[in-house]
Amino acid sequence: MNHLYRLIYASRPAVPTSPGVIQALMESARRHNGLNGITGFLAYTPEAFVQALEGPAYALTACLGRLFQDPRHNHLQLMSYGPIDARTFPDWGMGCAALQQRHTLLLQRYCSAGRMTADAMTPAGALMLLEELSAEVMLKIPAGELALSA
Ligand SMILES: Cc1cc2nc3c(=O)[nH]c(=O)nc-3n(C[C@H](O)[C@H](O)[C@H](O)COP(=O)(O)O)c2cc1C
Repeated sequence: MNHLYRLIYASRPAVPTSPGVIQALMESARRHNGLNGITGFLAYTPEAFVQALEGPAYALTACLGRLFQDPRHNHLQLMSYGPIDARTFPDWGMGCAALQQRHTLLLQRYCSAGRMTADAMTPAGALMLLEELSAEVMLKIPAGELALSA
């Protein structure tokens, strides 16, 4: 029996995606996720959040309930939800990356019209985008410090 699930959603920030806001989000996300066996990765721009969460089905459902009620974003669109064999983001209590100018090629590859929205991406494309960003962030973290960042 498979108890591990992944969900991917996209939403629109309702607050400025400033470093302080993102840090507060990540602190709360990592606290909850650590307690609930959830790992994942979040990408953001001033216009969009895209997030993958992986973990037990009951924990993901509870988290999705909290996400829907969170006033820091709106227009939440669930892009995919289903069982998985293994985690894609096992090392991240919740990793995150801002999409920047240098990521134009990634946007072109995985999003139509270069927009990181639910309508402009397939779930598989969103997952690959998050995977590539996760690998990029991982490379920048000195060995031994990952536990502090994840
Ligand atoms: C873009 C975004 C990503 C979030 N990611 C997570 C997450 O990975 N895990 C989680 O438990 N809460 C996450 N949250 C926060 C929840 O929506 C909710 O605010 C939080 O769980 C409430 O807990 P607290 O009041 O104890 O901080 C996220 C919120 C936003 C806006």
